[in-house]
Amino acid sequence: MCGIIGYTGNENAVPKITKGLSVLEYRGYDSVGIAARTGNGIETVKCRGRIGALEEKLEANPITDCSCAIGHTRWATHGGPSDINAHPHRAGRVVLVHNGIIENYKELKSEMSAKGDRFLSETDTEVAAAVLNDEYGKLGTPAEAIRKAIARMTGSYAFGILFEDLPGEVWAVRCGSPLILAKGTDGYYLASDMTALLPFTKEYHCLEEGQLAHLTPNSAELITADGETVTPTWSVTAMTPESAQKGGYPHFMLKEIYEQPEAIVKSVSPRIKGGLPDFSADGISPDFWAKVKNIQIVACGSATHAGLVGGRILEQVAQVPTSSYIASEYRYHPPLAVDGTLVVVISQSGETADTLAALRYAKQKGLPTLAIVNAVETTIAREADYRIYTYAGPEIAVATTKGYCTQVSVLYMIAAAIAHSCGRICEADAKELVRSVLEDAPVAIHQMLEQTDALRRMAGDICHHEHVFYIGRGLDYAMSQEASLKLKEISYIHCEAYAAGELKHGTISLIEEGTPVIAISTEAALYDKTESNVREVYSRGARVILICRDDAKNPQASADDVILLPTTSGAATLFAALAAVQVLAYETAVLRGCDIDRPRNLAKSVTVE
Ligand code: F6R
Repeated sequence: MCGIIGYTGNENAVPKITKGLSVLEYRGYDSVGIAARTGNGIETVKCRGRIGALEEKLEANPITDCSCAIGHTRWATHGGPSDINAHPHRAGRVVLVHNGIIENYKELKSEMSAKGDRFLSETDTEVAAAVLNDEYGKLGTPAEAIRKAIARMTGSYAFGILFEDLPGEVWAVRCGSPLILAKGTDGYYLASDMTALLPFTKEYHCLEEGQLAHLTPNSAELITADGETVTPTWSVTAMTPESAQKGGYPHFMLKEIYEQPEAIVKSVSPRIKGGLPDFSADGISPDFWAKVKNIQIVACGSATHAGLVGGRILEQVAQVPTSSYIASEYRYHPPLAVDGTLVVVISQSGETADTLAALRYAKQKGLPTLAIVNAVETTIAREADYRIYTYAGPEIAVATTKGYCTQVSVLYMIAAAIAHSCGRICEADAKELVRSVLEDAPVAIHQMLEQTDALRRMAGDICHHEHVFYIGRGLDYAMSQEASLKLKEISYIHCEAYAAGELKHGTISLIEEGTPVIAISTEAALYDKTESNVREVYSRGARVILICRDDAKNPQASADDVILLPTTSGAATLFAALAAVQVLAYETAVLRGCDIDRPRNLAKSVTVE
């Protein structure tokens, strides 16, 4: 949610900032800007729109002679997308970019207005700049001024800052929103995440909560919350610049759909020893699993859906009562915890504010926490008591695919680990479950991706409709919720997911001649019942696509189109269905001419509550 980048060194800063911003666009893309230190002071160029709009402005009026700059790509919170509200914002000698929210900005704005400040934008960022400028005027030293200024602010935020009278210096602070420093051969960098810096360097340091960073062309230092100055400890990322590029695919989403078989292998194989689930490399022993009596899964959006699917698998396989909660609601109606409750938070980005708040709440209540996270060293990963990385690699498309897929595969492994540690399944069954995820699921996804032409043809019909329904029972109801979110978020078609048996209790009145209903049926035991529900809508004129097992009897009898899923194992069938609904959403959005990787109003990393 908003992307920040900064650079100071001995090379031209402007192309570095624009390149980094183009990668960070997935965090927000309604306006963009740069503040560049030149011989004439700090020049700011910003506008509504995407990086291309900024590049046009910079082409018309090039900034030369600049080796120190900060940049920003915005997802609007306070004040709509406009040139004026775009970052950077200036107040006196301070120019800053900001990710996050200053919750008490109204009070601060009144305070600063009473002192004579005038504001041009509607943003909380401009208020933050004014507060910092106020403190800088009083104290004269940047570190102290930043410290005093943030003490006046509440909320969750990160700033990249230039001071008019400190040429070549970039300052930054992290208070709840992520920031990474990086060291190149040509200078020092700052960014909201590492993917933006991959074209320049691989050495990075994650800023801790409350830490200040001070970058010059030849040095980087950190100032801790206690005022102590320390040097960063540099790590080397395993990510490559190619992992954050489209690699010949028209969209990141499609690339990421195709990366799923490999992503499953990367997530699952480090957790297998002798064919059995083993999380010792994650610091989790069989004893730990054996103590788990109850699981609360907490997440947002698709990650919640992964939790719904995982919860059912955990109950079926490990026989551990499991419930899934929407993170933004968890604190307001916390479920009762029993002795042996484990809170599992799931997050691809590792920075989702609602999930983080729920994690902190659970920790405050003294509950053990385990995070399933993709992006390494992120706040959620660092704050949880235990962490399991999904190793899906960078996910750039706003709509998650491989992130979700690997979350489900890790949940399968946890279910197998608990079931085996507690003696609820025998060794052979545990091995078979692990094998099915590691071997059958990737093959099944490949097989489904070979049916893309058929899915595209079905999308050709769906794309003309404004309302679509997904239905399913059991695991497939949980899967339907993810399928429905995928379709609506990228194609802007209204889509609802219903428990198949629930339709007749109200929603069936919405079914008209031609209304698309997509039924998912991966569980053999539930097929007949789901098929009855399919007949109910089919006979009322619905246009039915049935995604079902390849051993289903005569599925064509009650559907216009049928997608057959491999039945090598339960995992194979489920993951194949996932690939089918992802491709269906993708192809529908392509046919509607939507901006697939950057759907309107969304951002990849939601760092505001
Ligand atoms: C939908 C999607 C979102 C995220 C949600 C949580 O395709 O990507 O619903 O799943 O915002 O994000 P993370 O997993 O980063 O916490």
